[in-house]
Amino acid sequence: MTISIKTAEEIERMRIAGRLAAEVLEMIEPHIRPGITTDEIDQICHDYILNVQKATPAPLDYNGFPKSICTSINHQVCHGIPNNKRLKNGDILNVDITVIKDGFHGDTSRMFPIGEVSVLARRLSGICLEAMWRGIRQVRPGASLGNIGHAIQSFVEANNYSVVREYCGHGIGRQFHEDPQVLHYGKPGEGIGLQAGMIFTIEPMINAGKRQIKLLPDGWTVVTKDHSLSAQWEHTVLVTDEGYEVLTLRKEETPLGPAQ
Ligand code: MF3
Ligand code: CO
Ligand code: CO
Repeated sequence: MTISIKTAEEIERMRIAGRLAAEVLEMIEPHIRPGITTDEIDQICHDYILNVQKATPAPLDYNGFPKSICTSINHQVCHGIPNNKRLKNGDILNVDITVIKDGFHGDTSRMFPIGEVSVLARRLSGICLEAMWRGIRQVRPGASLGNIGHAIQSFVEANNYSVVREYCGHGIGRQFHEDPQVLHYGKPGEGIGLQAGMIFTIEPMINAGKRQIKLLPDGWTVVTKDHSLSAQWEHTVLVTDEGYEVLTLRKEETPLGPAQ
C-alpha cells in the first residue's frame, strides 16, 4: 500500500477539483423534484461539467460505467445507473458526483428528499449525514483510520441502523480510487496513522435494516438484501497540520458540519 502525500501544488489542484464537484451538487439541487428522471439529472450534470466547468465526469466509461453520475434511489445503496424512470414524491435519492479537472479528482455525494418523505427516510438521511461529519471531525495528523470508522459505526449502530461493509472511502488524487481504504467501521487506534497531505473520501452507506447487500444483474447497482432504505453522504477531505479541510464543502455547509 502506497499512500501519496500531496504536494502544495497538488493540494491546490485538488481544491479546485473538489470545489467543482461541490458546485455540480449546488447547481443540480433546484432540478431535483418529483417528475424528473435520473437520466435528465445525468444529462444536466454531464453538460454542466463539460461545457461550463471544462472538466470531465469521472464515472463515464470508468470500468464500463455507462453514465456521468451515479443516482441511487430508496433501497439502492450506491452506484445506481441513471434511467428514464421518474422520481416520485417520497423517494430519497443519492447523487454522487466525481469530476476530473487538470488531472485531479473531486468526489462528493448527498441525499435529496423528493417532495414529502417519511419520518424514517428523513431520520436515516440525517443520521448518515451526522455519521459522516463525526468521521470527518476525527481527521488530524496522528489519528488513525480506525478512529474515523469507529466514530461512524458507533453512532450509526447506537441509532439502530447498520453500516455497509463492502464499500468504503478511498484515497483520491490523480486516480479516482487510491490507497488507503477508509472503512466506515472499526476500532480506535486501528489501521494506519494519518499524515498531513493525505487526501481521501469519507462516504458512509447506512441501511435502515440489515447491513447485507446484493449486486443487481446490471453489474453496478448495489441494493439492500432486505430491501430496507439506504442512505449515503460523501466528502473529499485533506489532512492538514491543524486537522482537516473539506475540499468539497458546499455554500450551505460549515467546516464543522451541522450544529451539534
Ligand atoms: N463516486 C463513487 C465513489 O464515491 C464511485 C463511482 S464508480 C462508478 O467512490 F463507476 F460507479 F461511477
Ligand atoms: Co468516493
Ligand atoms: Co463518490
